[in-house]
Order: sequence, then C-alpha cells, then structure tokens
Amino acid sequence: MAKRPLIARTVSSLRNALEPRRNTGGRIALVPTMGALHRGHLALVAEARRRAKFVVVSIFVNPTQFAPNEDYGSYPRRFSTDIAELAKAKVDLVWAPSPAVMYPQSFATRIAPQGAALAGLEDKFRPHFFGGVATVVAKLFTQVSPDFALFGQKDYQQLRVVTQMAKDLDLAVKVLGLATVREKDGLALSSRNVYLSESERRAAPLLYRVLKAGAARIKSGEPIEMVIEEGRAEITRAGFALDYLEARHALTLAPVVSRRDGPIRLLVAAKIGKTRLIDNLAV
Ligand code: PAJ
Repeated sequence: MAKRPLIARTVSSLRNALEPRRNTGGRIALVPTMGALHRGHLALVAEARRRAKFVVVSIFVNPTQFAPNEDYGSYPRRFSTDIAELAKAKVDLVWAPSPAVMYPQSFATRIAPQGAALAGLEDKFRPHFFGGVATVVAKLFTQVSPDFALFGQKDYQQLRVVTQMAKDLDLAVKVLGLATVREKDGLALSSRNVYLSESERRAAPLLYRVLKAGAARIKSGEPIEMVIEEGRAEITRAGFALDYLEARHALTLAPVVSRRDGPIRLLVAAKIGKTRLIDNLAV
C-alpha cells in the first residue's frame, strides 16, 4: 500500500512539519484544493511531484467563497478517498485545517482583489467569490510558504486573480497555471459534475464544442462579436441558462473587439438544471 501522507490540521503542526524541509534544499510545491479530487486535481499534483522535492496539497472547502444561496453545505466531501489518491500520488503532506482554524472568531482581515477580479465574468454572478478566494489563497501561501503553487486554467479568472495577488503582495510564490483536464467528450472535469443527471451530462460537452468552434472561427478572421453572438444563441437553444460567453484579453481579461487587441481567451459560464458549469479556451 502507498505510504499515507502526513496530515496537518493546525498551523503549528503544519509549521513543525515544514520547518525541517526549508533548509535542506529542494523545493516545496503547494496544490490548493477543496477536495473531492478528480483527474484534474491529480494532474496538478503529478506536475508538483515532478517539479518539487516536497509536495503539499491543501484540502479546505472555503466557506467565504460561497454565497449563502450556494452549495457550501452540499459541496462533495470525500476526505478518506482523497487521502488514498494522494498517497498513490506520493504527496508528502496534506494541509487540512477546519474552518475554525482558518477563520478563528477574531478573524477580521480580508483581501479585496481588483483588476481581473472585477472583469464582469464570475464576479458579476458571484460577487463574494474572489474576495474569498484571494483571502484564503493568501493565507495558504503564507501558511505553507511554498516555492511555487499550481492552479488549473479551468478556473481561468481565478488563476489571473491569484497570479496578480501574489505579485501585488510580493509573495515569494511562483504561480503556475496548468491545462484543463477533460473527459473524452470535452467536458472539463469538475467536482460539481457529480451533480449532473444523465441527460444533463450528455448535454454538458456543448460548452466546450462552442468554445472550440468559436476559437477556430476567430482565428480564421471572423468578427469576434458575430462569433460570440452565435455561440450565445447556440448555448441558450440547447437549454442552458447562459451567464456569459465572452472573448477577453488573456491576461487582463478586458473586453476585446479584434485579434489586434492581444492574446484572446474565450470564457463561458452556464447553468444546466441546477448545476453551474464554467469553461474557457485560448484562441
Ligand atoms: P477546486 O475547485 O478544488 O480546484 C483546485 C484546483 O484544481 C484549482 O486550481 C482548479 O483550477 C484546478 N482544477 C479543477 N478542475 C480542473 C481540471 N479539469 N483540469 C485542471 N485543473 C483543474 O479552485 C478551488 O478549488 C478553490 O477556489 C481554491 C483555489 C482551492 C481556493 O479555495
């Protein structure tokens, strides 16, 4: 059986476990997660394993990035299965604080990201979200103090926000973004895919097909606005409740009108039934 990773549940036990590693050379990598691990998370872990001597994975379902009407209570929690997966992936340490450890009663400081965090994408539909993410990721970065941290491009706006935050706060953590892992039919892996009914699951890959076709058409010179309008119509026709389909500057996430505006990223969010899916693709 694979060796179980060490599990730290308090900041002091985390520090005690990490302290001896700091001065022995070799890099420390952090993969922040909310658990319910799938192949997308495990791809980040495998890359961390390749690049670092000591691999830390955090599992924390962060209450402050969920709005009261969202799925914090029902978010999938599968700690022992996750630990078994992380043992197979040869992870050294799992950082699994409780909400009370992360946010003691006296907690009174929050990070308010701007720039990409106010691009009018996820933030428009989940206004609390990036404040919660930036605050918890800043805490994870200072708690673990890794040489680098790995995030998925699946949550593209989050990746931009976290990258900027680390830079703005002079955190000595290099943020790496890895490609989205997909099912064979194109659906991006997500812990929330377990919410999909059979028929919703069959319909879900449409989002990726629209992104792929849209990216190809924009690359071939078709006007962005027309491609986006048609993509929006196709998603809505297929029965999704569309939150957004947008073409944005890949780094700033500012709106773009032509390919001359810089590298472009297509981003989509839509609900199918009760499940909200997001995805994105480079043009
Ligand atoms: P979570 O949704 O668990 O995702 C953890 C990491 O896995 C994120 O960096 C996310 O982008 C990446 N990921 C998810 N699905 C992926 C896929 N299909 N392919 C590649 N990477 C994928 O994102 C969060 O947790 C939280 O917001 C967190 C950053 C942990 C802060 O609470």
